[in-house]
Amino acid sequence: MKKNVIEVTNLEKYYEVSGGFFSRKKDIVKAVDDISFEIPFGESLGLVGQSGCGKTTTARALCLLDPKTGGDVKFYNNETQDMENIDNLEDEELKKFRRNIQMIFQDPYESLNPRWTIKDIILEPLNIHNIGDLQDREEAVVEILKTVGLTPASNYLPRYPHELSGGQRQRVSIARTLIMKPKFVVCDEPTSMLDVSIRISIMDLMLNLAKDLEVSYLYITHDLAVARYMCNRIAVMFNGKIVEIAETEELLNNPIHPYTKRLISSIPVPDPSYDRKVYDVNYDELDAIIAKHGTDNPMVDMGNEHYIATHDVKGLI
Ligand SMILES: Nc1ncnc2c1ncn2[C@@H]1O[C@H](COP(=O)(O)OP(=O)(O)OP(=O)(O)O)[C@@H](O)[C@H]1O
Ligand SMILES: [Mg+2]
Repeated sequence: MKKNVIEVTNLEKYYEVSGGFFSRKKDIVKAVDDISFEIPFGESLGLVGQSGCGKTTTARALCLLDPKTGGDVKFYNNETQDMENIDNLEDEELKKFRRNIQMIFQDPYESLNPRWTIKDIILEPLNIHNIGDLQDREEAVVEILKTVGLTPASNYLPRYPHELSGGQRQRVSIARTLIMKPKFVVCDEPTSMLDVSIRISIMDLMLNLAKDLEVSYLYITHDLAVARYMCNRIAVMFNGKIVEIAETEELLNNPIHPYTKRLISSIPVPDPSYDRKVYDVNYDELDAIIAKHGTDNPMVDMGNEHYIATHDVKGLI
């Protein structure tokens, strides 16, 4: 059986927003609404869906950047060799968790302090977590720059983020993330601002690191070709919920949920090896699943570990 690095059950993130200019009533935005998934060690799960469906909110809740409003997140604890609920973590344990879960953002420029040199930017997480002495830390910085292909390191260490290209900056943020040797990295559209040639080299870099260091990714993208390249499985998100989740080729070749069909049909895929199909979007298959299984069980296993959500989406899509 595969060992999971993270297990997410019924995760919720609701926001309270003002109900309008003249209204005192608060409205609830269900940005993430009862989603569940798990990711085994060394594997990647793609999270795809249209703008505003809740991808970044999911990422931020997992990394504890914003507190979740419901559900459970369990993370593999190396010492107890068991899954640990992050709600139970305190002090040192919580610090260790933060070290093991890292995030790479879409815009490398925003995530790097413009007034710091590359050396200080990459050193910072080691300083915060008090890892090694100064010499160890400096050696680790040189080593990680080599790993992400920024060589010779002496060329980059004294420079500032604005003196680098977009691709080089994204490598710096990957270096800063990986220097902590995380087990799990949440990537929020990490290559969408880069041009195609650099995009492939960054994706290859991340795939190699996954193999060499057994890093797992939750990889957020709206580009199905990127998800296909990077991920073992794909989860399709719509309106705060996961509507379909399956192994990558299975999902792309045999989509069942009407929203997934629409997504695959509407997004151009610049990948000649992938013969994209255009699907008729109808509700027949989903209606049949709901008729057979009811809506009590939110996700139904269609075989091959291919899961479909059974909540009613008519009128929403
Ligand atoms: N701080 C907040 N307060 C209220 N609503 C929020 C907040 N942050 C996000 N939302 C809402 O939650 C929903 C999900 O937003 P999120 O940023 O997760 O979308 P996304 O899938 O990452 O979209 P994109 O592809 O555009 O990045 C949106 O409707 C958004 O307006
Ligand atoms: Mg987002």
